Amino acid sequence: MLAVILGTRPELIKCAPVILEAQRRGIPVGIIHTGQHYTHELDGVFFEELRLPKPIAHIHVGSRPAPKQIGLMIYRLAEAFEAFSCTSVLVEGDTNSVLAGALAAYKSGIPVAHLEAGLRSDDWTMPEESNRVLADRVSKWLFCPTENQRECLRREGIDHEGVHVVGNTVVDAALHYVRVSYEKSDIAERLNVHQSNYGVLTMHRPSNVDEPVRLRAMLESISHASLEHGLKIVFPIHPRTKKTITDHHIPLPEHFVVTEPLGYLDLLRLQSSAQIILTDSGGIQEEACILRVPSITLRPNTERPETIHVGASILFHEPHNERLASVMHDQMKKDRSWENPFGDGKTAERVLDILSR
Ligand code: UD1
Repeated sequence: MLAVILGTRPELIKCAPVILEAQRRGIPVGIIHTGQHYTHELDGVFFEELRLPKPIAHIHVGSRPAPKQIGLMIYRLAEAFEAFSCTSVLVEGDTNSVLAGALAAYKSGIPVAHLEAGLRSDDWTMPEESNRVLADRVSKWLFCPTENQRECLRREGIDHEGVHVVGNTVVDAALHYVRVSYEKSDIAERLNVHQSNYGVLTMHRPSNVDEPVRLRAMLESISHASLEHGLKIVFPIHPRTKKTITDHHIPLPEHFVVTEPLGYLDLLRLQSSAQIILTDSGGIQEEACILRVPSITLRPNTERPETIHVGASILFHEPHNERLASVMHDQMKKDRSWENPFGDGKTAERVLDILSR
């Protein structure tokens, strides 16, 4: 049986096309959930909307410091692999669940497939960078979204027949579910932005949100720039960000439409009609590019340079009011006919063709 390790929102979204395609083909597949994300808004709603099968095992690790979280996951995942006689393991991306899943499988003698292999920011202050590099090192099948990641792997001496360029399943998911979102989601009406010009803002990276002085300055710049362009800003707040805002009494301006974290369909619907997206999430950076909405990546670097090269996004991380207003202006004026670098929406089929061989 192919065990798919899931722990957080992006893994659910990006593994869903593979899991559903495996089910269609009659390939035995089972989800093992680490419990890294556990609240309904960050987890349950995605199972419902993506129509994912119930996990065969849930190891309920929850939030704790990274070394303890990863250690406990490895222990409990190894037990689950044994209990369910798993013959191969699929992990996606760069979260702590991915590193734990890859190591637990490798050390149990089970071959590992890594979806979204070869991404590199070269920024080792990010917890995700070490997770990606280590997961790639122990994987048998490395599924790269574009040639760029194959090149990154080659530079590290990973150049074997298990490396494949297949596109990114984020395209499979976004193209399908954005259509569904227009039938099922009334979020724009509920938030009363359906007749307004608005932008969408998300921030959850430790480097942006853990330090209150930085978070406050970034929010002030975004507030200033968006006011200048007459935009409301829809801001679904991740729990990590909410904690800093609440603990340090950081005020949010009136033209910010603040919500709890949103489900997939609601967020896709909002993204697709936005004038601009400001984000430090890699997945949203990709979705914006695929949906042809200009974005600003709120980071000094990115492991997804394709979005910058095609002109869909631009890096911005200094909290500077005038500069951000000017970058926002340039991005919103962009011709949106850029090429989608992440593939044709058939990545899940390609992955399963290769794994079935
Ligand atoms: C994790 C991933 C990140 C991914 C993101 C998607 C790592 C190192 N980071 O970051 O790559 O982009 O998921 O959201 O794996 N919390 C809740 N409810 C939950 C889960 C967490 O309230 O269901 C709170 C907890 O207070 C926790 C904090 O959010 O301490 C952060 O959660 P955590 O899983 O550590 O990392 P994320 O910031 O979500």
